[in-house]
Amino acid sequence: MRPILGIESSCDETAAAVLDGDGKVLAESVLSQERVHAPYGGVVPEIAARAHLAHLPELVRGVVARAGLTFDGLGGVAATGGPGLIGGLIVGSSLGKGIAIARGLPYVAVNHLEAHALTARLPGLTEGGAPFPYLLLLLSGGHCQCVKVAGVGAYTRLGGTLDDAVGEAFDKVGKLLGLGWPGGPALERLAAQGEAHGDPARFAFPRPMLGRAGCDFSFSGLKTAVAQEVARHAAGPLPATLAADLAAGFQRAVTEVMADRAAHAMTMAPEAKLLVVAGGVAANGAIRAALAEAAVARGVRLVAPPVRLCTDNAVMVAWAGIERLRLGLTDALDFAPRPRWPLEELAGTAV
Ligand code: KG4
Ligand code: ZN
Repeated sequence: MRPILGIESSCDETAAAVLDGDGKVLAESVLSQERVHAPYGGVVPEIAARAHLAHLPELVRGVVARAGLTFDGLGGVAATGGPGLIGGLIVGSSLGKGIAIARGLPYVAVNHLEAHALTARLPGLTEGGAPFPYLLLLLSGGHCQCVKVAGVGAYTRLGGTLDDAVGEAFDKVGKLLGLGWPGGPALERLAAQGEAHGDPARFAFPRPMLGRAGCDFSFSGLKTAVAQEVARHAAGPLPATLAADLAAGFQRAVTEVMADRAAHAMTMAPEAKLLVVAGGVAANGAIRAALAEAAVARGVRLVAPPVRLCTDNAVMVAWAGIERLRLGLTDALDFAPRPRWPLEELAGTAV
């Protein structure tokens, strides 16, 4: 297979990558829009779409050139077709389709969640490869779900959040603690200070869903519990020790819930011997450690791809395109981008 171009524009990362037919990365580029959205405390869809439009064409030209190719040297185009913010999806899909039409190339509309799900199968990434079936925990700002991956296009959702995504909870609690957006990384650093002076147990925060059957998640009650503690204090900045203990207490609660939910998922799919984590929250050291421990206890191996492949990127989109093209699966050029596109709806699109 000739090299494949991947395009990602579903949220606030503008990304492009070229992989050769075996999945080796020839060139990749990710432009985070974090600084553009930070003043608003979250992603502003219209601003995101305009930023994709402003930067994507140059980014795509750049990766094709750095891969040592021209557009004629490509074997296909894979662009995220959903789920995500519709403006950005239209920008990326239209550019991908345009290139496919101009060069007569096959086009794949990639489901963003499938791209996260298949990342572990990138050649060389997982020792011994990642044969199906395996479990995927997708933990990001927009998604929080556990899926059994039985094959390309064969996904069973084992559970998901009933309210906030886990990254969203980190961001909201980060805001309560006076941290910038996104709050996750700063909250992890602050929690380390709380852990250091030894008081993640100062507050008895709830552990929503802990011990419940299934693999659903819920974070809004935990977030409210932190908000109530914060509200006990006078307006103005929180004392540093208090903020650190709240961060440590929140993170400890999330970590325990995560390990418990993962343990339940492993009992729901005992045939899966790998547990793959993806999404920005997979960068959290405490969560990774707790998941690794829960996995080992059940004879399962935790696969945590490097952070740059856990967060949104175009390598995963190109790779999902390659997996689909290998099975002879392409999409029509009238594919309409889908803001909502559950993984289960891919059932039957592949074998
Ligand atoms: O996957 P991602 O880059 O973007 C999407 O949400 O699609 O994930 C970003 C999310 C944010 O909510 C951010 O706060 C969270 O991941 N995050 C973290 C950490 N690093 C990023 N949450 C907890 N601990 C971290 N170290
Ligand atoms: Zn994502």
